[in-house]
Amino acid sequence: MNPSEESGRYTVTAALPYANGPLHIGHLAGCYLPADIYVRFLRRRGADVVFICGSDEHGVPITLRAEQENLTPQQVVDRYHALLKETFQTMGISFDYYHRTSTPLHHRVAQDFFKTLLNKGELEVRLTEEFFDPATGRFLADRYITGICPSCSFDQAYGDQCEKCGRSLSPRELLEPRSRLSGAVPELRPTRHWYLDLGRHQDVWLKAWIEEQATRWKSNVIGQCLSWLGEGENHLRPRAVTRDLDWGVPVPPEIPESQGKVLYVWFEAPLGYISATEAFFQRLAEAPHERPSWVRGQRWEDYWKKEGGSRIVHFIGKDNIVFHCIVFPAMLQAAGDFQLPWQVPANEFLNLEGQKISTSRNYAVWVHEYLKELPERVDELRYVLTAGMPEQKDNNFIWKYEGTDATTDSYQARVNNELVANLGNFIHRVVMLIHKFFDGKIPSPSKSDPERHEMVIHAFSDITQALEQFRFRDALGNLMKLSSWGNRYLQKEEPWKTFKTEPERAACALYESAQLAAALGYLLEPFMPGTSARIRTMLGIQAESWRWNDATAAQLVGPGTPLPAPHILFKKVEDEEIEPQIKKLSLAVNGATPEIPSDNSQDTAPPQITLEDFKKLRLVVARVIHAEKVPKADKLLQLTLEAGDRRHTVLSGIATHYSPDQVVGRRVVWLSNLTPRSMRGILSEGMILMADGPAGRPIFLEPSEEVEPGSSIH
Ligand code: MF3
Ligand code: ZN
Repeated sequence: MNPSEESGRYTVTAALPYANGPLHIGHLAGCYLPADIYVRFLRRRGADVVFICGSDEHGVPITLRAEQENLTPQQVVDRYHALLKETFQTMGISFDYYHRTSTPLHHRVAQDFFKTLLNKGELEVRLTEEFFDPATGRFLADRYITGICPSCSFDQAYGDQCEKCGRSLSPRELLEPRSRLSGAVPELRPTRHWYLDLGRHQDVWLKAWIEEQATRWKSNVIGQCLSWLGEGENHLRPRAVTRDLDWGVPVPPEIPESQGKVLYVWFEAPLGYISATEAFFQRLAEAPHERPSWVRGQRWEDYWKKEGGSRIVHFIGKDNIVFHCIVFPAMLQAAGDFQLPWQVPANEFLNLEGQKISTSRNYAVWVHEYLKELPERVDELRYVLTAGMPEQKDNNFIWKYEGTDATTDSYQARVNNELVANLGNFIHRVVMLIHKFFDGKIPSPSKSDPERHEMVIHAFSDITQALEQFRFRDALGNLMKLSSWGNRYLQKEEPWKTFKTEPERAACALYESAQLAAALGYLLEPFMPGTSARIRTMLGIQAESWRWNDATAAQLVGPGTPLPAPHILFKKVEDEEIEPQIKKLSLAVNGATPEIPSDNSQDTAPPQITLEDFKKLRLVVARVIHAEKVPKADKLLQLTLEAGDRRHTVLSGIATHYSPDQVVGRRVVWLSNLTPRSMRGILSEGMILMADGPAGRPIFLEPSEEVEPGSSIH
């Protein structure tokens, strides 16, 4: 077999995104793009591969969001599942199957898995005391508890993790815990749960197994794993695999005392990879013509059980490492005959304009918005995110560089200097010159230039090796170097001049350049599938079922091949195109002093206005989903509003009249297009309209019937 071919079997998964919000560019760069690049590469190499993902639809992130929006959890997940699925598709993330964990199939798979562990004696019941919210009568999931982080003193740490310092926590470690449901101080109450003894697995095989992976796994991954596998205090403890919740996969009802209990989301979600594969094979059984040529296994077991011999690759972000490298392998091993992961190429995080991406502050580039606002620029985003992928350390995304150093790592600079000026320019010149001097047909020279072919072979091997080792930035960098070489080659050969004096030389230069362009057309496919297809079309290449290795052939497009009319591959990113993007982000972080409505601000009668004046106001129904006092400002409440898919922060001068929990959940009339202003470092976007009540008390204006937050008011 040719060393560049790959006949092995692969099961490639990408972390199941929570169906409680849209996708942002950090998700793409951290997980979905590298997964897609790798899978496209494997498919072209001839591997037998399934690429699996789906929506993670249980767990507290979902129920929290449902409560905030006054929806059922099912409504929340239906909405975001559809949005996520569509976003992936438009971005060209080529899952073979995109499932969801609220399906009956997934529930059955997860329940069966639980029963297997139970029958094998892997689960023990423990009676413990858990936090209970006396105000709502519910046990509180870790995420439903907030308090002060014992490590960094952040005062909004959650019971499972501190988002500030990243430390994972148990709710008992929090100082001054509070229920996020009611604000009440939670009490400990006894409850029964099933536990998997990770510590025993650590001693029997897990630690040794992780150590064996040390040479193969990325250093950022192995480092985190080893830090989990200490001794004494740091030895793994038994982990509860069930929870007292009403949204999730129920503990199988035939099991005694299962009432009111569901499987812990981090227990059942990774099993979603397996259930998705099952769902995929069910569909293939019903619709055999839908089978992709690269899926050669017959049953889901071929991709998950030991005898299938598949290499399982989990693409995830770094916050998921412990679950994929320790907990999920322990579950699989405990269940018996499952294959353990072969690679877990976790990435670090992507920051945005120097700050952490924050869903709750709406500080992100949301992919579905990007696709709406810059619809012709899918491959540009794939390119920029891959070129700056946070593979070994956190990286930073910026739209535009405004400093004085020459730099190439903003979105704008990368598109303009790398895609337009290098790649797009090379392809365009080759095709235009062939149209101009050779009648639009690949020339047929009497001699060739072996240096061009050597360059391709050399780049091919660097790119292939980088992809095999999950070094996507390097792989792409090498491709771009090949394109630069092409530009230099044309510059050196100057076929537009030699055409008259040495026509043979011009024919050779353009023939070789066309071969180089074609090689780029092939090798770009994992990174920029749309661009790759356009390049191949422009060069008259029709083959669809080509192999990776084909890029190394000396001749990719034969003399005489007619070229169709050329198209521009990339357009320059002008300032006007990205300024609105930058502005959107700055709305989430800074601004001037906010307009705080106060009780006695208006005592002169306002002038008469026209309908046109009134139409300038954008009034919207919004829901208050969070409220807190602003430190050192006794009048101010900081409100988080939800309207449509977005969240907004508004400061309101009502703190002397309302406490935060009197405000949360209300629908309000929100003037949304008031120029944002900031006060005490908080940006206020617009203002809430209130009526003057008795004794100067501001009164909320609420719609008299149910309307969706985000509805406009005319
Ligand atoms: N939903 C989780 C997150 O977004 C990832 C789940 S991965 C799975 O962090 F393995 F559990 F599915
Ligand atoms: Zn902390």
